[in-house]
Amino acid sequence: MATKRIVVLISGSGSNLQALIDATASGRIDGRIVAVISNRPGVLGLERAQKAGIRAELLDHKAFDSREAFDSALQALIDSHEPDLVVLAGFMRILTTEFVSHYLGRMFNIHPSLLPRYKGLNTHQRALEAGDTEHGCTVHFVTPELDGGPLVVQAVVPVATDDDASRLQQRVHECEHRIYPLAVEWFCADRLQLLQEGVTLDGALLPPTGYRLDA
Ligand code: GRF
Repeated sequence: MATKRIVVLISGSGSNLQALIDATASGRIDGRIVAVISNRPGVLGLERAQKAGIRAELLDHKAFDSREAFDSALQALIDSHEPDLVVLAGFMRILTTEFVSHYLGRMFNIHPSLLPRYKGLNTHQRALEAGDTEHGCTVHFVTPELDGGPLVVQAVVPVATDDDASRLQQRVHECEHRIYPLAVEWFCADRLQLLQEGVTLDGALLPPTGYRLDA
């Protein structure tokens, strides 16, 4: 089994990227991050990549006049690195169906909620307003439906009665840094597959919630 080539896409601070850098550096993930690509200039995630000796590239979406044009340039850039896995780590772009289909079964996203609840933005505030006692985060395969692809792993975060959105966000973020390396570790060890009937881990079909880590 050859060491997997990973490309990470970011738009911001890249704390999930950092968790992946650390897990590849320690040897826990049998993979190498061959490039980090940001659609925004000057973000901390690009610095994190450079510091780790990883190729850091900027592809500014503002330089393109359509979503299709940007996505096709992005696809060409990603493919020039010949990745086995593409990891969206806080990449704040809606992607075209064509782009997503090209990476089907080999592209992950992380989302700060227990999907299918709270797709989209402001997930922490929405969980609080709904009076949820449990919140969390999810790693999923990316399909054309926004935040809608088959789930790989979820971490559950209990909601405290005196929580506010920022405290809750902080605890969810810490869990993201646990489950993203785990999902990437499984993928790189050839333990995870996206099939027609769902996601399998070691050949066994996962439940629709994915593998669930309780707090
Ligand atoms: C995370 O909350 C992730 O769930 C969401 O974007 C945020 C990225 O954070 N998709 P970071 O840049 O990894 O710190």
